[in-house]
Amino acid sequence: MKQKDNKTSKLSVDELTSYAKRRGFVFQASEIYGGLSGFWDYGPYGVELINNLKQAWWKTFVYNNFNIFGLDSAIIQNPKLWEASGHVAGFVDPMIDCKKCQHRFRADHVAGTESANLKELETAILDKACPQCDAKGAFTKPRQFNMMLTTHVGPAEDDATLTYLRPETAGSIYTNYENVRETVRGKIPFGIAQIGKAFRNEITPRDFLFRTRELEQMEMQYFINPNTSKKEYEQWREYTWKFLTEVVGLNKSNMSWHQHGEGEKAHYASAAHDVYYNFPHGNKELAGIHDRSSYDLKSHSKASGKDLSYFDDSTNKRYVPHVIESSMGVGRLFIAALTEAYTVEQVNGEERIVLKLKPQLAPVKVAILPLSKKLELSKLAKSIFTDVAGEYNVEYDETQSIGKRYRRQDEIGTPYCVTIDFDSIQDQAVTLRERDTMGQERIKISELKACLAKKLAS
Ligand code: GAP
Repeated sequence: MKQKDNKTSKLSVDELTSYAKRRGFVFQASEIYGGLSGFWDYGPYGVELINNLKQAWWKTFVYNNFNIFGLDSAIIQNPKLWEASGHVAGFVDPMIDCKKCQHRFRADHVAGTESANLKELETAILDKACPQCDAKGAFTKPRQFNMMLTTHVGPAEDDATLTYLRPETAGSIYTNYENVRETVRGKIPFGIAQIGKAFRNEITPRDFLFRTRELEQMEMQYFINPNTSKKEYEQWREYTWKFLTEVVGLNKSNMSWHQHGEGEKAHYASAAHDVYYNFPHGNKELAGIHDRSSYDLKSHSKASGKDLSYFDDSTNKRYVPHVIESSMGVGRLFIAALTEAYTVEQVNGEERIVLKLKPQLAPVKVAILPLSKKLELSKLAKSIFTDVAGEYNVEYDETQSIGKRYRRQDEIGTPYCVTIDFDSIQDQAVTLRERDTMGQERIKISELKACLAKKLAS
């Protein structure tokens, strides 16, 4: 299918995808069998970056707040959960087929609108050409397609064993609301956070990690008194924005807010704002803040028969808490962080690609590079590796010229390279090279570990 690239982004989707593969960040899932649309595998540097992003989110949302607690629940739950949440009936996207080439599309993507209204979409696609074969007037009428991925639990494959892979991590937070509240003796307001996989049978997975069928989400549900919902909604919008700009380091000039119109909101949301990011394929949703009102707790109370209301001992009154949700996809944050950090510079007439990630997010923090493979240098370099490694990811590399090794580390965003040369044996010192400035300084081996720890913490 033809891809539209974003002219204001530094990279095209294809460039980002091939860079991510070439440098060991992301591979196509089951690539040797031709891949599987909407599924990706994270390679050696990808898994480090994704773990660092998740850890940064967890620290910001959970550790920084005395009243937010973690959860890690099962991907497969009782299917009644997804019936009560409204996903079985309402988690749909509008779908059309091209009658000429038989390709399937999301009607709103072809129409270029955010609307989910089938009648509006039918009118909007009338004069649109098929993105695959260019045929005009060849689309079927838009119809709703449910995105829940199903499976069977147990030996029989019948309706009684049918269940779902969760489409969002939020669902099992609501069903655990009372368990968590009781165990932490939580008082409203308090929050529950979860990071985990979710699955959506997307009609057209595309744009690298942006729209996948297996995705990972970082979601925090904040349970509040309904009277405070406006204030809390604004507070979590600001908090999420700050995480993205100050912790991840995304540039505000690449970000904007998009408020959902009436036809656009998910079935559970009474208000929704997305953070848009200037991705290689366009200005699109990175994260979402939703006011879910009492929708989820009320639906689960009704369907399960369990009272999920809250007794406020300051007023002696009972109410069903409202929920403000902050949600973002790890894969989308991953490509935003890569796009933001990817920099091409001219150095002495040559191109230098450098990934200017914050050191806390960098997949490799330090590279240990002996100038030659000679035994005495290797021995010293390996002892330095052993001394420095353990706390964070350190790489050892003795192949190729030192210039090429520096460039390779620059491309994966390693903030510090340590070069061991023949003088190191005599003066027990090494050269420390900084990624962004390429500045070099000589450091005593005995002081290296503490010096790196200090630099990486700042
Ligand atoms: N619990 C609320 C919820 O799931 P959503 O807007 O459907 O809301 C939240 O999804 C976030 O999950 C999005 O902002 C996006 O970052 C990510 N996301 C959603 N669908 C995705 C997909 N198919 N592939 C990758 N990320 C996705």
